[in-house]
Amino acid sequence: MCGLIGNPVGHSISPVIHNTLADIMGIDLVYTTFKVEENQVEAAVKGAYALDILGMNVTVPHKQAVMRSLKEIDPLAEAIGAVNTLARVDGGYKGYNTDILGLARELEEENVCIKDNPVLIIGAGGAARAIAFLCASRGASSITVINRTVEKAQNIAEAVNGYYGIDSVKAVSIDQACALQGDGYVAIQTTSVGLYPDVDNVLIKDENFYRKVGAGVDIIYNPYTTRFMKILSNQGKPAYNGLKMLLYQGVAAFEIWNNCSVSKDMADRVYESMKEAMGINE
Ligand code: ATR
Repeated sequence: MCGLIGNPVGHSISPVIHNTLADIMGIDLVYTTFKVEENQVEAAVKGAYALDILGMNVTVPHKQAVMRSLKEIDPLAEAIGAVNTLARVDGGYKGYNTDILGLARELEEENVCIKDNPVLIIGAGGAARAIAFLCASRGASSITVINRTVEKAQNIAEAVNGYYGIDSVKAVSIDQACALQGDGYVAIQTTSVGLYPDVDNVLIKDENFYRKVGAGVDIIYNPYTTRFMKILSNQGKPAYNGLKMLLYQGVAAFEIWNNCSVSKDMADRVYESMKEAMGINE
């Protein structure tokens, strides 16, 4: 038995990911969702352990709060400050951040290389913070965090520079981002701007900004093709949405829980099931 704790959890696609994987791999596992209120996170984790539950995913709004109820935390998840996967260990659960492993696997699959390349991260929320840690751990030549509220971008830059002992993470405003020099940037869009139903919106409207970008990823997957992706595609640049990040965060959690390895072919089959469940025909 595995499951997801969060609030809300009603529309989660995670049961499709894990139940399809269990089916394909012939593993005797059932995955369901558990709505947990904010003051019940600790009780939920203790209850899950008592019930012999193998693993849990954690979603909004509990990704930070759950860290107080764990036996161990993976160092990268600790640095990021957010946990989305719990794996049963002796006496409790160990916390991981597979959201970030999911993005890493998507980038690898799409041949978007972070190592020795300059990265632009658009936004400075929880997702941006995790992505900044990932890009630093993968050896990006520079990381520029762009945000409406520059102080939040500065907080991320300080945390990542401090953790890795580097000074290549910088914070800039949207106006400063439009005036950046250089080209071949990998741009990762992490804000909610452009999310359904606001599908024609994009945080940076100046098309010249996108001329400096070599490849882009939007972590939004609804709509399947965002305005950010369309601008890049119109300039002939590769652009990807966040659906594979969602797929691979689940795959990484499934692999941790079951001590197994999910092949590309199996992951492709799960991806098709996700698209079908979400009514995506592309
Ligand atoms: P998450 O944890 O999912 O990353 P979040 O913490 O709510 O989400 O962060 C949302 C990000 O989207 C922030 O960078 C936010 O900018 P501010 O820090 O300036 O608030 C950005 N964002 C959301 N709506 C925005 C808008 N209409 N214009 C500009 N930025 C926006």
